[in-house]
Amino acid sequence: MEKKTTVPVTAIVLGASGRGKLYGDYSLEHPDDLQIVGIAELVELRRNMYRDKYHVPAGNCVATWEEMLNRPKFADAVIIATPDHLHYAPCMKALDLGYDILLEKPIAQTEEECRRLVAYAKEKGKIVGLTHVLRYSPYFLMLKEMVSSKRIGELVSIQHFEPVDHVHMSHSYVRGSWRDSEASTPLVLAKSSHDLDILHWIIGKPCTKVAAFGDLAHFKSEKAPAGVPARCTDGCPVEATCPYSALKIYYRDRTWLYVFDLPEDYDEQGKVILENLKNGNYGKCVYHCQNNQPDHYMMLMEFEGGVTVNFSIEAFTSYSGRRTRIMGTHGDIVGDMESFTHTDFASGVSKTYRADAVDALNYEGVGHGGGDAGMIHDWIEAIRKQDASLMSTPLDESLESHLMAFAAERSRKENKVIAVEH
Ligand SMILES: NC(=O)c1ccc[n+]([C@@H]2O[C@H](COP(=O)([O-])OP(=O)(O)OC[C@H]3O[C@@H](n4cnc5c(N)ncnc54)[C@H](O)[C@@H]3O)[C@@H](O)[C@H]2O)c1
Repeated sequence: MEKKTTVPVTAIVLGASGRGKLYGDYSLEHPDDLQIVGIAELVELRRNMYRDKYHVPAGNCVATWEEMLNRPKFADAVIIATPDHLHYAPCMKALDLGYDILLEKPIAQTEEECRRLVAYAKEKGKIVGLTHVLRYSPYFLMLKEMVSSKRIGELVSIQHFEPVDHVHMSHSYVRGSWRDSEASTPLVLAKSSHDLDILHWIIGKPCTKVAAFGDLAHFKSEKAPAGVPARCTDGCPVEATCPYSALKIYYRDRTWLYVFDLPEDYDEQGKVILENLKNGNYGKCVYHCQNNQPDHYMMLMEFEGGVTVNFSIEAFTSYSGRRTRIMGTHGDIVGDMESFTHTDFASGVSKTYRADAVDALNYEGVGHGGGDAGMIHDWIEAIRKQDASLMSTPLDESLESHLMAFAAERSRKENKVIAVEH
C-alpha cells in the first residue's frame, strides 16, 4: 500500500491580497499539505498581517517579488498572486530558480508572453498550474460529463452568457484594477478566461475562428449627468439616485470592501472607507475614471469539427453568474451555474441536476471542497509526484483560452474574423 506523504509542500506567496490570503487559509486548514514560508507584499500592513496569521518566518517577509526572487531557492514552490501585469516576470524568474509554480490567471498580458512562458515552463520541466478553478466546480464537472457521455447526442452548439452585474462592473472594470485594458488585461481575458477555458474543455477541441464585437457604451464622460463632480464625495447632485454611487456601494451598503485594509470596528471602518473614497480610485465618479474596458462584449466562435458558440459578457445586469444552453442532436441542456436541466428529445423526459447534490450522481470527491480547494489539492499532489498530468489545469491547456481571448480582441479592433493559431 502506498504510504501517505505528510511532508507539506513549502511555498512562497507573492501578493498578500484576496488570492494570496486564500492560499494562506488553505495552509492553515491543511498544514500537512501546504506551508507558507515566505511572503512578498508591497503594502506593509498586509505583509505583517500575512506574517502573523499564516506564521511566516519574519526573515522571509519582504516588500517586492524582485527582492524575494533575488534570494537563492528556499522552498518547493512559488504562488504568484500579484496583479495581472506582474505575472510574467516573476513566473519566468521563478522558473529560472527551479521552483514549481501556481500562477494566478491570466498567464500574461500578451499572446507573445503567454507563448514564451508556456514554452519556458516546458523547457525547464517544472510544474506550473494555472488557477482556472471552474474546472473543479461540481456544476461544470457535471456539465462536461453530460456532454462527454453523449446524453445530448452529438454536440452542435453552445450559447454562453456571463452577466457581470452592474456594480461589479463599476467596481472592477471602471474604478478598479482592471479599468485600463493595457495596464492590466482586456475584459475578455480578465473576466472570462475561465469561460473560454470551460468552453474549450467541454467541447474538447480547439477553437479555430473567432469574431468579436462590443465597446464602452456608458461609463464615459459624455454620459455623465450634468454637473457631476469628479468624486461621489464632492457633493454630487445625483448621488442619492445613482446606482454607481461610491458612497452607496462602499459606505452605506458596505459591499466590495475587500479592496480596503479595514480595522475591525464598524465606525472606524467607516472612517477608513470615507478616507479612501476621498482620495483613492474607488471614490471616483464612474463617468470620469480613465477606463477603457467594454461594457458589452459579444464573441462568436467556431471549433474544430464545426461546433459553434456564441458568448456574451454584459455589464448591465442586476445578477451575476453564468447561463449556458447546450444544443445536441438528441437533447439539450439549460443551466445557470447552480443547476441545469437536461431534456432527452426521444423520451421527452427532462431532469434537473443541482451542483450541491453531486454526491447523488457519484461525482466522487467534488461535492466537498469547491473549485479553489480542489485545484490547490491537485497542484500539491502534482508537485509531490512531479507529475503535471495530475492537474486538470496544465499550462499548455490553459493557453488555449488565452489564444481565443487575444484573437477576439484582434477581431474586435480590426473588424474581421480571426483564425486562432495554435
Ligand atoms: N483564479 C481566480 O478565479 C481569480 C480570482 C480573482 C483574481 N484572480 C487573479 O489573481 C491575481 C491577484 O488577485 P487579487 O484580487 O488578490 O489582486 P490584488 O490586486 O488585490 O492583490 C495583489 C497584491 O499584490 C501586491 N503587489 C503589487 N505589486 C507587488 C510587487 N511588486 N511585489 C509584491 N507584491 C505586490 C499588491 O499590493 C496586492 O496586495 C490577479 O492577477 C487576478 O486576476 C484570479
